[in-house]
This record gives sequence, structure tokens and C-alpha cells, in this order.
Amino acid sequence: MTLFTKCLILTSAALTPPFLSADAGALEPIEALGKNIFFDEKLSIPANKQACASCHDPAKGWILPNSTINATTVVAPGAKPHAVGNIKPPANAYASFSPPFRSGNFGPFTPPWEGGNFWDGRAEGCGATAGAKCPTAAPRGAVSATIRPSDLPSSKQAQYAEFLGPIADQALNPFPNDVEQNIREKNVCQRVKTAKYKDLYRQAYGGEIDCSPNPKENPAYRTSFKRLAVAIAAWQASTDVNSFSSKRDRALADDKDHKFPLEDFTDQENLGHDLFYGITSSLNPQGKNALCAACHNGVPQGQAADPRGEAPKQLYTDNRYHHIGVPFNRQIPGVGKGVKTGLRTHVTNVPPGNFRTPTLRNVAKGLNGGFVKAYTHNGWFKSLESLVHFYNTRDVLRRCETLGITNATEKEALQNNCWPAPEFPNPAVVVVGNLRLTDSEESAIVAYLKTFGDAHTPRP
Ligand code: HEC
Ligand code: HEC
Repeated sequence: MTLFTKCLILTSAALTPPFLSADAGALEPIEALGKNIFFDEKLSIPANKQACASCHDPAKGWILPNSTINATTVVAPGAKPHAVGNIKPPANAYASFSPPFRSGNFGPFTPPWEGGNFWDGRAEGCGATAGAKCPTAAPRGAVSATIRPSDLPSSKQAQYAEFLGPIADQALNPFPNDVEQNIREKNVCQRVKTAKYKDLYRQAYGGEIDCSPNPKENPAYRTSFKRLAVAIAAWQASTDVNSFSSKRDRALADDKDHKFPLEDFTDQENLGHDLFYGITSSLNPQGKNALCAACHNGVPQGQAADPRGEAPKQLYTDNRYHHIGVPFNRQIPGVGKGVKTGLRTHVTNVPPGNFRTPTLRNVAKGLNGGFVKAYTHNGWFKSLESLVHFYNTRDVLRRCETLGITNATEKEALQNNCWPAPEFPNPAVVVVGNLRLTDSEESAIVAYLKTFGDAHTPRP
């Protein structure tokens, strides 16, 4: 599909809502290059066995495909023996919709920042904005580099500008990270140069990949490495990754009036929707509101706001930072209490405990066969049921600490019908913690979340 037809499709999507993403089969060379890199296990050291997909498996909703780790230590093993990460791998799909990291005013309870990639937004994507001071925030943990249009061949700058931003800056990080793929920029360049898919680089950029160490102040291999990151970003922004092909998307598109309640949904799923958005209906006659949409609501730039959850492309994130009161997870090796503060490790003057709202797309994908997923940044939660129960009763159940249980795991908390104190004080109290939902209303919300899994699963 050419970029031109893509624009046409986006336009028609905006005009005629029951739109479903076109067949993701035909990729542009730059997207195909990015896809090959994403699945290439040879781009890791020492064993040549780790790809992006090792921690972001499309079949599992783009997270770590290891049920045992998810159920226990949460963090992903790196390519190097004994190396492990320190935070849960989030889904990479739909992250390309996050705008460059920027300040804003979102009311008294929300830190004045939005956008970026990573749980703390430190992949800022500021190089995408012409003339932006970069990085924009007082950086603490900002990533070392951003990609600017001038990193692209001049003949491609206009065409590929749309791929620059947080998602491209993010892609600079996993290779050189010693708890991830553990491979230098120059080695990545050299391995792509001899890879089976090397021709895609030429097709995408109009020349062979250059891995020379010159000129010394800005070696060619570094520029080539940035171009590979742009290719990954291009694929991550494609409909192959962001297919908008979930049961909810299809049921909405197939519905007669394209409004809830949906004919292809069960009553339980429709009720889950009404609770998620606080919509009064025959299923939800009291208009109960679980307030999920206060944070898990967002549409691609340029599309109308979606207060009722009826937009064809719902992202289920505001890409802002919130503190929901997640307990400390003592099972992550080497990460002490109070260390993972979220946004505060990136910018100053914000309280600890704020993390970027994750998308809810694909949260239930791959749960078949007893597979366990970990939820929230530290993976303390092991099921959607318990997380929704937490939102409902965080401030209602007794604290595990009052029963003499410190740093409880999810299992210990559920067994004792208690919740641990949040790792950081003062979580958002206005919207979560005491929703007064019944058990069956909690189940309805979970049933609704289960309709967010994309049917399309890209393969290497
Ligand atoms: C060893 C496991 C591992 C590998 C390999 C890995 N990632 Fe990740 N990924 C993570 C973790 C952990 C995070 C969260 C880090 C943080 O927020 O501090 C993450 C975050 C991300 C995000 C941010 C999503 C968001 O919404 O903020 C994207 C995008 C992403 N990875 C893409 C990639 C790509 C592309 C590659 C390959 C070049 C890759 N990852 C390789 C573990 C991994
Ligand atoms: C105040 C904003 C806010 C509200 C309201 C809210 N969430 Fe969240 N949600 C977040 C943030 C922020 C995180 C990540 C927290 C963290 O990692 O510490 C999150 C995490 C999650 C996750 C885990 C996703 C993952 O990939 O790990 C799920 C599922 C979820 N929320 C569902 C819901 C549901 C269902 C509701 C309504 C009952 C809800 N949320 C209400 C902000 C919110």
C-alpha cells in the first residue's frame, strides 16, 4: 500500500465510521524492513536468540510470552545470561499513537505532562517537532538520543517524517541495553547488512546500508542505526500492528446504527461497556459509572473525542500519567520498595507513583490454556478480575498490613481479602477505589475488556 492510498483510507475512515483496517498483507519496504528487524533474533548477543518479539509477542497481545515469569518475577530475561529487566514489558502495539512528550494542564490531580513512550515517557520523540528544544523536560532519565529529520536521507525526509517521534526514539533503546538485546549499534548495522532481508534497506532508503565508523563525530553506522529504528517505527505504525480488528471493533462496524448496545455483544459485554463509560441504559438503569473512561479513553489525533466509546478507533489510553495506587511487588529481583517512581524518574516536581496509562487493547489476548499475564507496571496483578476488583474496593477492604502481612503478593491479598497499602502515598482518590460495583458488574467489565483483543496476529 502506498503512503498516498493510506491517506485516502484514513480520510474515508473519518467519513464513514464502520471502517475496518484493510488487509495488512501488503507492506511498504520500510515497514517490511522494520517487521523483519522486530522478529530477528540474530540481533542480540551472545546467543543470537533474542528479538523484540521475544518480549513483545503478538500472539499474547505484545507482551512477554512466559506465563511462569509473568506469574512470579514479572521482568524479562535479557540476551546476556542472568541479566533481567526491572519493569514489566508493556504492549508495543498502539504505542505509536502517543504524541511527543509535552506539558499541559489536566486538572489538579493529574501531573502536567502527556505523551512519550515507556512507562515514564522518557522516549520523548522531541526530534520529530521542527525547532523543538530537545529534550523538552528537565531530563532525569531521558533517553540519550532522539531522531531528527536530518538523520534521514534528504530524498526521504518528507515521506518518512510521520514515523519520527516517541516510537522511533524508543526503538533506539533495546539493542544497546545490557538487560535487553545487548548489542552495539555498529553490530546491529553489520548484521542487517548481511541479513536475508538486506535488500529492503536499499528499497526503503535508496542506497546500501553504511556501517563505517566515519566521520568520527557522527559515524555512518549510527545514522544507519537510527534509520533502522525509523523502519521499526514505520512498521509499528502500520495496520499490521495496529489492526483495530477486535471483537468490539467488528461488532461496532457490523451494528445497524453503530451504537451500543451492539447486536453481536452479549448483555454482559454491553453492560460492561455501559459501566466503563457510565452510560445509563436498560442494562445499567442506575447509570453506575466505573469511571474507566476517565483515563482509558483516547482516539488517534484528528478524530473526534469519544465519550461513549463508539469511535471506530478507540485506543483506551489518554497517554497521560496517573497514580492508581499499585502495591509494591516484592517478587521483582533487585528492585527495592520506593525505587520505581514512574514519571518522577523522568521529570522533576511530580509526586511518585504516576505511570503512563497503558492501552487496554489486547489485555486479554492469549489468556487461553491457563496462560498468566501480569498487569500494571510492576505486574503485581495477575488477572483482570483482581485488577477490576482492586479498582472497585481499593479503599474499602482492610489493609493487609493491619493483618500483619507486609508487601503481600496478589495471592496473599486475595486469600486474606485485603489490599496492601499503595507503594506510594496519595493515589488518585477521586475516581478509583470505591466504585460500589456488585460482583456481576465487575465480571461485566472484565467481559467487556475481553472484547478488545485483535483478531489479526502478525507472523514473522
Ligand atoms: C528483554 C525484553 C525486551 C526486549 C528484547 C524488547 N523490549 Fe520493548 N520493552 C521492554 C520493557 C521492560 C519495556 C518497558 C520499559 C520502561 O518503560 O522503562 C519495553 C517498552 C517498549 C515500548 C514502549 C511501549 C509504551 O507504550 O510505552 C515499545 C514501543 C517497545 N518496548 C518496543 C520494542 C522494540 C521495537 C524492541 C526491539 C528493538 C523491543 N521493544 C525489545 C522489554 C523488552
Ligand atoms: C485515574 C486513571 C485511571 C482510571 C480511572 C482507571 N485506570 Fe486503569 N490504569 C491506569 C494507569 C495509570 C495504569 C497503570 C498503572 C501502573 O502501572 O502503575 C492502569 C492500568 C490498567 C490495566 C493494566 C493494563 C496493563 O497492560 O498492564 C488495566 C487492565 C486497567 N487499568 C483497566 C482499568 C479499568 C477496567 C478501569 C475502570 C474500572 C480503570 N482501569 C480505571 C489509569 C486508570
